[in-house]
Amino acid sequence: MGRRKFMGALAAAGTGAMAGGLSVSPSAHGDTVHFPPSSYLGGAGPFRSECDIRDCDVIGEIPTNIDGAFYRVGPDWQYPPMTGNIPFDGEGHVSMFRISNGHVDFKSRYARTQRYKAQSAARKRLFGMYRNPFTDDASVKNISRGTANTHIVYYNGKMLALKEDSPPVVLDPLTLETVDDYYTFHGELASLTHTAHPKFDHATGEMISFGYEAKGLASDDVLVFSADAQGHITWQTWIKVPYVGMLHDFAVTEKYVAFLCVPMATNVERMKQGQVHFAWDSMLPTWFGVLERGGDGKDLRWFKGPERCATHVMGAFSEGHTLYVDMDMALKNQFPFFPNLHGEPFDPKAASGYLTRLSVDLSKKDIREYSMERLYPQTGVLPRQDDRYQTKPYHVGFMPTTDATKPLNPKLGNLPFRPTNSYTRFDHATRSTSQFYIGDASSLQEACFVPRSENAAEGDGYLVGVAHRLLEGGRTDLVIVDTQHMEDGPVATVRLPFRSYSQVHGWWVPASQLPKM
Ligand SMILES: [Fe+2]
Repeated sequence: MGRRKFMGALAAAGTGAMAGGLSVSPSAHGDTVHFPPSSYLGGAGPFRSECDIRDCDVIGEIPTNIDGAFYRVGPDWQYPPMTGNIPFDGEGHVSMFRISNGHVDFKSRYARTQRYKAQSAARKRLFGMYRNPFTDDASVKNISRGTANTHIVYYNGKMLALKEDSPPVVLDPLTLETVDDYYTFHGELASLTHTAHPKFDHATGEMISFGYEAKGLASDDVLVFSADAQGHITWQTWIKVPYVGMLHDFAVTEKYVAFLCVPMATNVERMKQGQVHFAWDSMLPTWFGVLERGGDGKDLRWFKGPERCATHVMGAFSEGHTLYVDMDMALKNQFPFFPNLHGEPFDPKAASGYLTRLSVDLSKKDIREYSMERLYPQTGVLPRQDDRYQTKPYHVGFMPTTDATKPLNPKLGNLPFRPTNSYTRFDHATRSTSQFYIGDASSLQEACFVPRSENAAEGDGYLVGVAHRLLEGGRTDLVIVDTQHMEDGPVATVRLPFRSYSQVHGWWVPASQLPKM
């Protein structure tokens, strides 16, 4: 019998503070917070620390034309998860690197979501498995399940922390304090959900967005909408999806809005059995849906394709009536923690993502399928672009990639995955690439692009992104790379004295757009 069970047995026997002359401490009645050992990053477990560092340790010289804030968000367990739950269900933790005049101040705060506050008050976990309300404590039936852990974007002077199963959560961009735990665009949002990947049209000032499973758990309804720079919804329309599943990202051009349905299907039966929201159904095709911006959802056209997994859009554009959407795309399920419905083992090779261009000529009324072209040989995930070019024709993109030709540090032993060891810059105009390689013992997360100046050419500037140092327990650095000199290594590294949580996505806000202190 372990110590915890032994102490519990004493309490259950009504022994109180004394047992046969043995002095024992009062019992916590099994509510003690304890995280089970985790295999992630050497068992380091969740981060859970909200902290401030004024003047971080900087190696190298940060160019003075970098003035703004890099925000990142990721899941970080507030309380020990239900057995079998997945990392995507941790509470949203936001951090900010405020960079100015060569100095860096760091701040991190949890988003005070409705569920964070409820669990904090109860001093325990109240929500069960990932996006599965059947596993929740009865006391939280009317509390938003949103974790705000997936993406963070700047809109209308607000940092919106996003999770695709719920409306945005608003954070103050300077203090990271939560100022609205359920943002509904002045009450105008008709969907119960909001994507983690809205797009910004800098020519019109609009945010174009959507919500899926918009009318409740497993509903096949999707709300597509635009909002103006003041947060008012100016266009909305409803569409239906061919089947209900993860509709994580979407594409917006000057003329069109496009969705890709992939076989990460919502599975209510499995939820009722206590499992997570999704399972990969390899029997399903993909569907590429296209709608005109400002149009009516009944005019949406769906184009069929084979089984594929694609989660994120690098960029999209339309030329005449032809729409092009660039995504990282794999043959099969890319998420080992979402099970394959038909029992196939997870296939790491088939899960490798390649930058792939989806296209369809909308002037042709009789076509039923979309086209695909693999653009580059590099494998990776989490592609980004120069965000000033969202919705516009673009030719520069970036993606964390894994260069398998590079050695892996032998001290790392047998890892269950090959770390992401590079950032690659892609130039679609020339189909050429350049690469920043971080070394044999680090793992890179998504990077954000920082323009060299307000009017810099597309893709001319810096990448900012976080690296975990795998021989130092996952200790975290921010690396800053010049996109014109990727091979030269970082121009500067911001060294944090701890291992931060894993990020999903991040966002750069220039100082000119931030409120004044
Ligand atoms: Fe995402």
